[in-house]
Amino acid sequence: MTTALITGASSGIGREFARLLRADGHQVVLVARREAALRALAEELGGATVIALDLSQRDAVARLTAQVPNVDVLINNAGFGDVGPFAEADADRQLEMIDLNVRCVSELTKAYLPGMVQRRFGRVLNVASTAAFQPGPFMATYFASKAFVLSFSEALAEELRGTGVTVTALCPGVTESEFHAVAGLGETKVAHVKMPSSASVAAQGYEALLAGTTVVVTGTLNKLGTIGVRFLPRTVVRKLVKLVLKRSR
Ligand SMILES: NC(=O)c1ccc[n+]([C@@H]2O[C@H](COP(=O)([O-])OP(=O)(O)OC[C@H]3O[C@@H](n4cnc5c(N)ncnc54)[C@H](OP(=O)(O)O)[C@@H]3O)[C@@H](O)[C@H]2O)c1
Repeated sequence: MTTALITGASSGIGREFARLLRADGHQVVLVARREAALRALAEELGGATVIALDLSQRDAVARLTAQVPNVDVLINNAGFGDVGPFAEADADRQLEMIDLNVRCVSELTKAYLPGMVQRRFGRVLNVASTAAFQPGPFMATYFASKAFVLSFSEALAEELRGTGVTVTALCPGVTESEFHAVAGLGETKVAHVKMPSSASVAAQGYEALLAGTTVVVTGTLNKLGTIGVRFLPRTVVRKLVKLVLKRSR
């Protein structure tokens, strides 16, 4: 039986990944801060390893790998955003975002990849975003963090070609989950967008992971959007994103 570790498994897209992987017969390791939510999911899944951990902390990955030294499937999903002008943002919160969305993705991948390469089998899926394709005025750090995830994943996928290990970047657009409440997107135009469920986004990601696809953008409109930004002048793209993310109050 193979082992799959999912970060951010207590809600949204991560919880759906856990359900898919368990239904496919994997042993699953559920990681997030909210232990009660992870335990409820483990019970629903008929068994899972629960590790309650704040992955933005410096010692988190060392503590995690001490408990789970090897995995066959790694889903780097935990992440959050924060809306507002960077000049007014809480500095610690911005750094926490970089620690979780960027540093933790790099550190966890570095921890588990050598074993996968040695065993000539492994699947890594990193949850990026359509935000990865352009800068995000009023969510500057978040968009930049997802640009890192996309670029990092694509580069590794190419390095690893032929090794039996694949890396997939999942790029969802706005998706129903707790993400919007956490990021404070309620007062922006994003709040009025019709959103696909976390289950449908995770299903598209899982299909891409099984196929070893390097980049998957979910949803037709999102796919068109990510193609469109390659042809529009960067100055126009920046202004459009700014309009969408500007708070109404
Ligand atoms: N929803 C969207 O519109 C959207 C669009 C594009 C990309 N994404 C990306 O999709 C991924 C999943 O987000 P989601 O939409 O499913 O949002 P979500 O429902 O808010 O889930 C985020 C998950 O990350 C965990 N998490 C947050 N901070 C953590 C920390 N310090 N340590 C450990 N775990 C932490 C949360 O668990 P705890 O609170 O229990 O720790 C939760 O399980 C994120 O990387 C997000 O950037 C989301």
